[in-house]
Amino acid sequence: MSERPDQAAGGVAAPVGLSHVAIAVRDADALAATLVAALGARRGEEELLDEGTLRVLFVHLGPVTIELLEPRSADHTVARFLATRGEGLHHVSLEVADIGAALAHCREAGVRLVDEQPRAGAHGTQVAFLHPKSLGGTLVELCQIPTSR
Ligand code: CO
Repeated sequence: MSERPDQAAGGVAAPVGLSHVAIAVRDADALAATLVAALGARRGEEELLDEGTLRVLFVHLGPVTIELLEPRSADHTVARFLATRGEGLHHVSLEVADIGAALAHCREAGVRLVDEQPRAGAHGTQVAFLHPKSLGGTLVELCQIPTSR
């Protein structure tokens, strides 16, 4: 390949780590309790997103963060996901340093985007979703953590 190593790796668009793995559930407290009891997880922050239609509960297992998604409205996309596919893996979130650059890089590479522009995610993050049709059937979230923290 003739690309420079930084281009081959995505340059500034390359992820800096795994932010979290998200699971769609009907009862986030029940799964959190199981993870605490079985794997020594620690319950973390929780938040209502999308104008109160989605409850998000973070659970920390050592270096791993799991985001439990519990819809509060039948119209939410996660509720439709549960209705058609049942509980399960919803998305994998990759932390990037520059979400605008990462999104542009994905677009240039021909990846179908769910979000053309970054939008507000949990606790002050900026997020954008990439379409599972382009990524082995897996919904991928790009996530930029605010630098002011
Ligand atoms: Co997420």
